[in-house]
Amino acid sequence: MAGGSRVAVILAVVVVATAWASNPVIGILSQSDPPYIAASYVKYLESAGARVVPVLHNDTADRHAQLFSQLNGFLIPGGGANLANFSDDFMVSARYFVNQAIQANTGGDFFPVWGTCLGFETLSVIIADDPAVLVDGYDSEDLPLALNMTRNAGTSRLFGQLPGSVYDSLQTENVTMNFHQSGVEPSTFVSNDKLNSFFNILSTNVDLQGKPFVSSMEGKTMPVYGVQWHPEKNTYEWGSTQANPHSAAAVDVAYHMARFFVNEARKNNHVYPADALDKPLAGLTMRPAASSINRQRQPVKPTCCAKVNLTAIQSTSKTKARFHPLLPFPMFMKRYPSPKTVKHREESDRKRECEGEGEGESLRV
Ligand SMILES: *[C@@H]1O[C@H](CO)[C@@H](O)[C@H](O)[C@H]1NC(C)=O
Ligand SMILES: *[C@@H]1O[C@H](CO)[C@@H](O)[C@H](O)[C@H]1NC(C)=O
Ligand SMILES: *[C@@H]1O[C@H](CO)[C@@H](O)[C@H](O)[C@H]1NC(C)=O
Ligand SMILES: *[C@@H]1O[C@H](CO)[C@@H](O)[C@H](O)[C@H]1NC(C)=O
Ligand SMILES: *[C@@H]1O[C@H](CO)[C@@H](O)[C@H](O)[C@H]1NC(C)=O
Repeated sequence: MAGGSRVAVILAVVVVATAWASNPVIGILSQSDPPYIAASYVKYLESAGARVVPVLHNDTADRHAQLFSQLNGFLIPGGGANLANFSDDFMVSARYFVNQAIQANTGGDFFPVWGTCLGFETLSVIIADDPAVLVDGYDSEDLPLALNMTRNAGTSRLFGQLPGSVYDSLQTENVTMNFHQSGVEPSTFVSNDKLNSFFNILSTNVDLQGKPFVSSMEGKTMPVYGVQWHPEKNTYEWGSTQANPHSAAAVDVAYHMARFFVNEARKNNHVYPADALDKPLAGLTMRPAASSINRQRQPVKPTCCAKVNLTAIQSTSKTKARFHPLLPFPMFMKRYPSPKTVKHREESDRKRECEGEGEGESLRV
């Protein structure tokens, strides 16, 4: 009998353990029209063992509901979108996933959400339920900084478990890459009850004019994380016009951020149907990252490059084969201006906020 119950206990442990997603599938929200996702975010999550499924921001509500029930986590990347219009597809879909995540977590279904740059801003607007928490005019394009940690950082989930060397570099070296003109002021955060009760501020920074912004945050009780900076650029963005830090310390920081979030997704037990992973997805553009070998912008013929479909972006080996020729296309530079151009754009054009992914260029497929 005793032996039998021990077997039962062991079996129960095995069943519980396998219920978690050891190979999590994380949704990345697309943006813009036609919808695109920057390759660097896919590689970033893959670096820590996740598979990625694109979530088209203009997909149907039914499809979004289905995806939520199948994904183990959700990431809102950097880029540009109108965060002030709650009827816009981007905000409708982002709010849907964030609200579903909050509801799920409240009911004991652990579902993590991450926002980078534009994603950080999106999370702030959604939780505050007010676009006015964002202010414009930051002078923080192409600006690598060291984080000014708050007293919450050391005991936070996001930073508190980091190896000491990684935590130290975050504070002492310019390893967090900023590319934004909007941001949330720490004073806004503190005085806004909704933000203040939902998030802990983990770090702040100041822009080149000394204007402060919140740079990292995590949900007090919810697995919702936001960074105004770009961890994925440290490893996967090599554009010659960007000062992305690629030092050993910077790469460690990027990896540990990806690792943290993917491990959070491993705690979720939604199941993505294996056959659906290999279905191509129409209507999605992958924006390639500038790689270390093509950052000189050598002219190339546009016909050389791979078309990227869902199958291709969902497997690292196929990804390499298919969009390793991540070459810049001069003809697209106008369409997606480089950050230097972006800096001088009209302030009203919020669409280019957090630009810089793929060095501002696009591979249309
Ligand atoms: C999303 O937009 C793209 C480009 O405008 C379009 O091709 C695609 O059909 C749209 N997707 C949905 C589900 O409406
Ligand atoms: C907000 O977005 C909706 C849907 O795209 C659009 O119909 C509406 O005109 C937009 N409102 C403003 C003020 O831009
Ligand atoms: C760091 O933030 C604290 C407030 O949390 C502020 O008092 C201090 O001046 C900041 N230091 C730097 C170097 O920005
Ligand atoms: C880090 O960035 C700040 C702000 O641009 C700059 O003042 C400082 O010199 C940089 N530190 C290093 C070690 O490059
Ligand atoms: C997508 O990629 C897979 C794997 O390379 C290929 O078999 C499939 O034909 C592609 N689908 C489309 C629509 O190009």
